[in-house]
Amino acid sequence: MGKCMGSKKSSSNNISTFDVLSEGMFRKLFPENLVLSPQLNEVYELALAYYESKILNEDELADNGAYFIRVGDRFTRHYLICTGEPLLLPAHSSPRLKSFFKKNQFRTGYSTHGLFPYRGKFHPQMVKALINIMGIKPGDTILDPMMGSGTVPIEASFMGINSIGIDASPFCRFMSQVKYNALTIQQEPLDQALKSSKELFEFFGRFAGSPIVGRKNRKYELPNDSNSINKEKIYFKSEYTQRFFELIKTDKTDVFDFLLLAYLDSAGYAERSKRQSPYDQFQAILERYLFVVKKTQYVLQGSESLLAKADLLQGDARNLIIKKSSVDGILFSPPYSFAIDYLDNDLFHLNLMGENIDVLKEKMVGLRGKNFKERYQLYIEHMDKILFECARVLKPEKFCTIIIGTNDNQLSKVLDIPKEEVTGLHKILIDMAVQHHFSPVRTLARQISGIANTMRNEYIIILQRNP
Ligand SMILES: C[S@@+](CC[C@H](N)C(=O)[O-])C[C@H]1O[C@@H](n2cnc3c(N)ncnc32)[C@H](O)[C@@H]1O
Repeated sequence: MGKCMGSKKSSSNNISTFDVLSEGMFRKLFPENLVLSPQLNEVYELALAYYESKILNEDELADNGAYFIRVGDRFTRHYLICTGEPLLLPAHSSPRLKSFFKKNQFRTGYSTHGLFPYRGKFHPQMVKALINIMGIKPGDTILDPMMGSGTVPIEASFMGINSIGIDASPFCRFMSQVKYNALTIQQEPLDQALKSSKELFEFFGRFAGSPIVGRKNRKYELPNDSNSINKEKIYFKSEYTQRFFELIKTDKTDVFDFLLLAYLDSAGYAERSKRQSPYDQFQAILERYLFVVKKTQYVLQGSESLLAKADLLQGDARNLIIKKSSVDGILFSPPYSFAIDYLDNDLFHLNLMGENIDVLKEKMVGLRGKNFKERYQLYIEHMDKILFECARVLKPEKFCTIIIGTNDNQLSKVLDIPKEEVTGLHKILIDMAVQHHFSPVRTLARQISGIANTMRNEYIIILQRNP
């Protein structure tokens, strides 16, 4: 062995260690003119980068590639969008949070994706790469039938790809719309709003309700009519318009909604943490939101016309109001059976929107059923309907990508079988997809590293609609 170590040729296959190491692995995988994203450090990311480099041409890589910062002497748009200060955080933010955003600058901390902390949100960079490798091109239409915070529509819009985003939660629809509108929202009224933040805070508190500080698991009563944003929208908005006009000299709906999201975001925080007063939270969040808008629009300058259209709707993924064979690609992530209660997370916001949580619960995949076992059965039934719908609306030979996590420990308890006998949700989904005219093309595993996650593995399942 001692002999081999120093020699130039390895005895087994006659390859020089020196040659292998000095050439490096990346040269074998990627052409010399591509420079990889500095924060690429997971195996699935390397795989996505590799597929992008094989599937896109040089111009496409420079315009829409996700995992490269340079193509020859051109910086990619993704690089330009991500550079600079990643996200302005309130001064009291922990060093851990600041470093998280710095570390994830190219993955999550760019554009308007950082506006609302939605649990279970996609990595936008991964979304971009998946859109690319599914062969979806500018002018095409992509569908996310469970859009959550709207990561897919917003990324698609940047890429010139039209989108349809659907979610059962009206709050998700609202939040996604605000994030999308923020790409082109007028800045002056927002600057004005920051100057009048105290009055705005009081105004929103009066009309939309106030948080109860530190009451994380507050049980809400159904709101009475005068307190409900949805039911009283006309009254609310007309009242608002007058006051709004006085305060920030505009009556634009998108400005109103943007400020309302900032208010709801801050109220949600205030309910979870006593660290700052609700008003201080509001001001800090408003400042951050403005920074995001300014940065995003600065990057977009001159190319606003390339932004594609996004239709963002409240609806049910099990029954899509979309024509047969009409979309060019589908990308979504369903709730992972009983992992996160999205309604419970958004209780404050939904309550202020005048939603009846019990009625809404009936529409939510993963939340129905008397006990875990029944929940699981219903979950499988609902996912089957969703796959049927995906196959119906997708054009033949196009791709559908599903990202799903699985927790074998939990399933073993629920199904009362040993862990070794549990079939992961990803496998169940693939089998169902095959019944609905899909062929599995590739599955990539992805580790979940979030702080509060019970799930360890997530799978990216790429399916192709049969001809
Ligand atoms: C894992 S989250 C999606 C997160 C999203 N990918 C993002 O980037 O923010 C799952 C979403 O499915 C939604 N959902 C649950 N049941 C639904 C249904 N029947 N139809 C449409 N959306 C539903 C939930 O409201 C939740 O926002």
